[in-house]
Amino acid sequence: MAHKWNPDSWKQDAFVAKHLPHYEDTAELAEAERVLAGFPPLVFAGEARALKSKLGDVAAGNAFLLQGGDCAESFAEFTPNNIRDTLRVILQMAAVLTYASKMPVVKVARMAGQFAKPRSAATETIGGVELPSYYGDNINGIDFNPDSRRNDPQRMIRAYSQAAATLNLLRAFTTGGYANLRQVHQWTLDFMGRSAWADQYKSIADRIGESLDFMEACGIDIEDQPQLKMASLYTSHEALLLPYEEAMTRQDSLTGDWYDCSAHMLWIGDRTRFADSAHVEFMRGINNPIGMKCGPSLEPDALLRMLDTLNPAHEAGRMTLIARFGHDKVEAGLPPLIRAVERAGHPVVWSCDPMHGNVIKSDSGYKTRPFDRIMAEIKGFFAVHRAEGTHAGGIHLEMTGQDVTECTGGAVAITDAGLADRYHTHCDPRLNAAQSLEIAFTLAEMLNLELSERRADAA
Ligand code: PEP
Ligand code: CO
Repeated sequence: MAHKWNPDSWKQDAFVAKHLPHYEDTAELAEAERVLAGFPPLVFAGEARALKSKLGDVAAGNAFLLQGGDCAESFAEFTPNNIRDTLRVILQMAAVLTYASKMPVVKVARMAGQFAKPRSAATETIGGVELPSYYGDNINGIDFNPDSRRNDPQRMIRAYSQAAATLNLLRAFTTGGYANLRQVHQWTLDFMGRSAWADQYKSIADRIGESLDFMEACGIDIEDQPQLKMASLYTSHEALLLPYEEAMTRQDSLTGDWYDCSAHMLWIGDRTRFADSAHVEFMRGINNPIGMKCGPSLEPDALLRMLDTLNPAHEAGRMTLIARFGHDKVEAGLPPLIRAVERAGHPVVWSCDPMHGNVIKSDSGYKTRPFDRIMAEIKGFFAVHRAEGTHAGGIHLEMTGQDVTECTGGAVAITDAGLADRYHTHCDPRLNAAQSLEIAFTLAEMLNLELSERRADAA
């Protein structure tokens, strides 16, 4: 693309903007954008560069990406316990993955900014009343009445302040002692005592503790080792609400490059990754590491054109391709994409989103994702990469530290009838803490299989 990029070039007529809210009062929108543009950035460009370099290691096959968190954060569920509990599941999963695979794990939260949602229908009808759909708390409200469903620019300001406070707490936990590996036992959540995976976790935690004892006996002071004393955690969300993302985009004083400082990593959803998309135009010019969802409708040629637009310099760590095919489509759909990318020599991280292709409506009427299908997609994803000789580089999950009942199945089996017990999500069904941990153990097993095959090939 030859034309000049600006933070607002996505607004040009040449680009098609889908899934963006229409604000009736343009003066109100302009005022909210002006206020946001004056607020401090939430992340620093140097941090985004550090994440890009770590993702470069993932692309090279030497690390694993763990990305997870809410489907949609909400103003109502904004509590310190929610933030802490999701963080601790991420830390638990990372401990399991690192210990079992001996690979560095790059941790990226779907938190501190994951509000806006693309919707398949623009309106919703209940009892003969038709209102605009709910687009996420930074756009309108979930309550079904005209006032709540109005697109309100002020919600962006509230979302910013919630993201800032969430990020602040995450930074405090990860650097202030909570994420010290000595705490590995304390991350266990009470209600997970019932799960068989909780026992397995305890035994890994014991072994990590012994390794730390051994290191200390050898004279290594854990408190002097930032890698053991602290965790590095990055933030991410779908860059859907472009007026917000544009207002958060700043020029880095060190390099002169543009960064979207609303999060370290941003991604393009499956519904907005088409040619001439306003979202692609926006993402093209920011220098953050970016993700792109790859669903069944994506053709290999279209993917290559997208990569040439978004990463013309073939920079490692810039692109994470998040495959979300569905349990029954991944094994046929993914290989042509991998082969095209390999042939073109694009360094990418391949990550598996086993959530978005596996949504069904349960008999009881809830939107759910059967745990078996989630597992089947993960296994299919790894099998494809083993067959292609490429690295299954990451996982992308919608999960929470709360003991919710939103996805059926898992070791603490949630039944269709049980979905009603604690179904709290504002959007898609999330894995609960026990289900997430179970996935971490499966991932560790799969990663080990990949590594042992790689070693056998090298021998
Ligand atoms: C999401 O990740 O919440 C999402 C909407 O995914 P996708 O774009 O893959 O449907
Ligand atoms: Co979702």
